[in-house]
Amino acid sequence: MKGNSKFLQDFFSLLSKTSLMTFFAFILFFSTTFSHNISSQEFDIAKGKSLFNANCASCHKLNKKLIGPALRGVSAKYEKDWLYSWIKNSAAMIKSGDEQAVAIYEEYNKVAMNAFPQLSNEDIDNILAYTDYVPPKPVAPVSGAPVSESSGSSSTNDLILILLSFVLAVLVILLVLINKTLKNIIPQKAVAIDDAKNIKKRIPIWKAFIQNQFLVLVSVVILLLSSAYFAYGYMLQVGVDQGYMPIQPIHYSHKIHAGANQIECQYCHSSAKKSKHSGIPSLNVCMNCHENIADYNGEEDLEKGYTKEFYTNEIKKLYKAVGWDENSQSYTGDTEPVKWVRIHNLPDFVYFNHAQHVTVAGVDCQKCHGPVEEMEILYQHSPLTMGWCINCHRETNIKVKDNEYYTKIHEELSKKYGVEELTAAQMGGLECGKCHY
Ligand code: HEC
Ligand code: HEC
Ligand code: HEC
Ligand code: HEC
Ligand code: HEC
Ligand code: HEC
Repeated sequence: MKGNSKFLQDFFSLLSKTSLMTFFAFILFFSTTFSHNISSQEFDIAKGKSLFNANCASCHKLNKKLIGPALRGVSAKYEKDWLYSWIKNSAAMIKSGDEQAVAIYEEYNKVAMNAFPQLSNEDIDNILAYTDYVPPKPVAPVSGAPVSESSGSSSTNDLILILLSFVLAVLVILLVLINKTLKNIIPQKAVAIDDAKNIKKRIPIWKAFIQNQFLVLVSVVILLLSSAYFAYGYMLQVGVDQGYMPIQPIHYSHKIHAGANQIECQYCHSSAKKSKHSGIPSLNVCMNCHENIADYNGEEDLEKGYTKEFYTNEIKKLYKAVGWDENSQSYTGDTEPVKWVRIHNLPDFVYFNHAQHVTVAGVDCQKCHGPVEEMEILYQHSPLTMGWCINCHRETNIKVKDNEYYTKIHEELSKKYGVEELTAAQMGGLECGKCHY
């Protein structure tokens, strides 16, 4: 069968051409998505935030003028390099007569900004990523309940659309190539058949395509592989809100309360110990202290980054919400509940219980929520993905000591696994039904 072997030869050269094409297409694709990921993750907003709080917050706020200008979105105002030099040594720039530097210096009545030679460009990038960060707008609140929200879903939708159109484009290119080569092959083959039997002049392309099982197989495999890849990428992206840091209706600082003033987490989140939810404290809890704590402390508070105006403003919001009249030192009964924006939010099909982790397992809040006592504005520290839960269950031993519930099960299971210590995973912490309704 000479025609057939010629066909195979052509087909393989076609195959190598197309697979080369797909290969390059995928390289291109990977490098673009990959670099996209890098550029969006390269900057560490949380790190930028703590650098900002440590170095800049005494003179700058994001949205308000303090001693220096508000810094939200400042990176759009100047060139990157200008900002690097300015932040490292603004005085030198003013001295050198840089126009923009002199202008801003004049505008702020020649108040000098500190020099920060110790900050690297990367540090500054992180700080700017923080000052640029605009949290997603809270959804209009419903019936007084804390607002829940998932950020970034529209951008993931966009991404998926782009990916899908890309897959489509690759497939179209493939088809065109196959079509073209088949057109070259088929006349030759048809001539051979003509010679032999004179039956058919032409085989329709789709028939040739379907008849060639190998070609069909290859196309199907490519299709499956690419959709699996995109589906996987999609799964990894869905609902990961790590770093989510919404602006709250009252500027409430965990750094001031849980950090500087060492108030226990459970003073406010008292149900973490005994129930599924930790809960957000009612404003009455705040009033335990703030009936009395209302006065601005001057220098001391300015050091923490609060101007008098800002400070009293935030306390007034609290008073307005609970209906506290400062003059008469009494409650008017005229309340206006504050709607905190919810930050951590697992999907409804996941079961998570605080008491089980805090009380039974003895896990610190910070293990999951990060250094809350250092957070001026609270953000989501952990990814809250399934992988995150499961990794910890694999790594963490359960506390059996003084835990009646476990002593018996523990004995049996430790025999079964032949180990002294059991991880949460070995106790059943990987079973789907434990976390999924
Ligand atoms: C001691 C107070 C002080 C500290 C600390 C400080 N700044 Fe400033 N900053 C100023 C003042 C004041 C200005 C206004 C220009 C001037 O008078 O020099 C300014 C201006 C700026 C500007 C220009 C803003 C604009 O809108 O034109 C940037 C950017 C800036 N600061 C960034 C930073 C960063 C980043 C940090 C922390 C690493 C920091 N500053 C720490 C006082 C401070
Ligand atoms: C004086 C009261 C108070 C104390 C003490 C306190 N918190 Fe909070 N916490 C709040 C309030 C009010 C909110 C809601 C506003 C916000 O998110 O900043 C909150 C929010 C949170 C959230 C986010 C909730 C969400 O929406 O997902 C976490 C997590 C949290 N706190 C953990 C802690 C930890 C850990 C500690 C101890 C280190 C602590 N808190 C101490 C009052 C307090
Ligand atoms: C094992 C990890 C883990 C530990 C330990 C932990 N949390 Fe949480 N926390 C979570 C998760 C996950 C959520 C989201 C829960 C949801 O959406 O149902 C959450 C939500 C919250 C919330 C939002 C309100 C709520 O209850 O859903 C607050 C407030 C909170 N945690 C405070 C605390 C405090 C305070 C501690 C320590 C006493 C603590 N958490 C310990 C994982 C943890
Ligand atoms: C155990 C006492 C205590 C409780 C409870 C408490 N605070 Fe405070 N609060 C303080 C102290 C102390 C300061 C710092 C005062 C200072 O430095 O001038 C402060 C400062 C503040 C400030 C000004 C600084 C800032 O963070 O913007 C606000 C606003 C505030 N608290 C709101 C709240 C709210 C809202 C609650 C309830 C969720 C609350 N506080 C619960 C003790 C408390
Ligand atoms: C910091 C580590 C850690 C993280 C993170 C964590 N867990 Fe756990 N979890 C534990 C430990 C330890 C136990 C065992 C507690 C015990 O003794 O019952 C446990 C137990 C559980 C149990 C009970 C299992 C059983 O066998 O009864 C459930 C359900 C659970 N976790 C759900 C979750 C979910 C959902 C998440 C993620 C949102 C999560 N956990 C994240 C440490 C963790
Ligand atoms: C320790 C707790 C835990 C266990 C055990 C667990 N899951 Fe999950 N699972 C989660 C959490 C948390 C999420 C939500 C992740 C998110 O929102 O990104 C999730 C999400 C999912 C999703 C949705 C995926 C997505 O990205 O939307 C599926 C499907 C799923 N789990 C299947 C399973 C199966 C099957 C098992 C058993 C082999 C299992 N899970 C065991 C905690 C768990």
